[in-house]
Amino acid sequence: MAGVSAPKTPAVAPGRWIVPLSDVAIDADMLAAAEETLASGWWSMGPRVAEFEERFAAFSGARHAIAVANGTAALHVALLAVGCGAGDEVVLPSLNFVAAGNTIVHTGATPVFCDIVGERDLNLDVADVEAALTERTRAVVLLHYGGFPCDVAAVRELCHLRGIAIVEDAAHAVGSLYEGRACGTLGDVGCFSFFSNKNLPIGEGGMVVTDDDEVAARLRLLRSHGMTSLTWDRHRGHAAGYDVVTPGFNYRLDEVRAAVGSVQLAKLPGRNAARRERSSRYREELEGREGIVVPFSDTADSAHHLAVVVLPPESPREELRAALSAEGIQTSVHYPPMHRFSAFAAAGDRRALPRTDELADRILTLPLYAHMTDEQQDSVVESLLGALKSPSATAD
Ligand SMILES: Cc1ncc(COP(=O)(O)O)c(C=O)c1O
Repeated sequence: MAGVSAPKTPAVAPGRWIVPLSDVAIDADMLAAAEETLASGWWSMGPRVAEFEERFAAFSGARHAIAVANGTAALHVALLAVGCGAGDEVVLPSLNFVAAGNTIVHTGATPVFCDIVGERDLNLDVADVEAALTERTRAVVLLHYGGFPCDVAAVRELCHLRGIAIVEDAAHAVGSLYEGRACGTLGDVGCFSFFSNKNLPIGEGGMVVTDDDEVAARLRLLRSHGMTSLTWDRHRGHAAGYDVVTPGFNYRLDEVRAAVGSVQLAKLPGRNAARRERSSRYREELEGREGIVVPFSDTADSAHHLAVVVLPPESPREELRAALSAEGIQTSVHYPPMHRFSAFAAAGDRRALPRTDELADRILTLPLYAHMTDEQQDSVVESLLGALKSPSATAD
């Protein structure tokens, strides 16, 4: 189409990074979808959002897929839709992005943090989830850390008997499978993020999936002000007016990002497979060298969203990061655990989280994206091993 040429994937990252932490691949299909949508003149929620939802439902095997503005909005409406509110407690691993903790607080409930398994499995520890449950527990928020499914069967066993809802924070896990089923469809509601650094990036965006018709109806209402009809319905003459039946939000996704989302969804399996190859290569090159632990495994059931390594105890992580940064390699930490943030200092009774506390200071996230080159990955491996051998020498 006019103005759009061959697929373009930046060989060198924008800014000063030679190897960025994550990177988006820009191609002609994506540009065409965005341009066609803009030219259509209908930009807010409409047919392209409906199409993206249908495709995502088919992809994940969920009965309902409801597109929202971002992954945080997805978590917020999911928690409300399963009934979280004032006086309730919600158990979640502290080692997750703060969106989960913040949205729990915004429902009026109290986050109760649980520990993780250990250096080979950074997902929640089911025994500690059990220890954290009380009569007030309304929900458990699961994270599939880095795209690696957590022990869902064991959490289900705990929750079902007690009538506790399971909300999956599947932001890392688009395309991950657990016992053959898509992560996000394993509990009551699953929440996805399509932020720019995610496996299915559209800028900002999210999706909520559920098999429960009533929960889906609540999610749809909460997404759009609690109104019984949408602008799109009224535009098509399908509704003349509306009632407001619950105080909702404007958490809608727009048409341009939905159109890009459908394009990205078609490319996701190939890109996840490429991520897996990069993950396996990191594992081969790094496991056991200079005391590095590469957690999890190279399973095809993971979306391989993050390349996380666990450094040896007492490693000078910030010095190592500075050494890599000096060589143009961007790194990160997923995550500073939530229980250490000032905003959560007073949340619930503070539980001991010894493995989270120990490992939070040792984890390091390395660059990972589908179109990463061998040269880029080699430079990450060499720089990290070199810096671990002699941190202060390389940081100069
Ligand atoms: C695990 C996790 N949960 C939730 C979110 C929130 O998603 P969003 O940034 O789309 O609001 C993120 C995004 O960074 C995330 O990584």
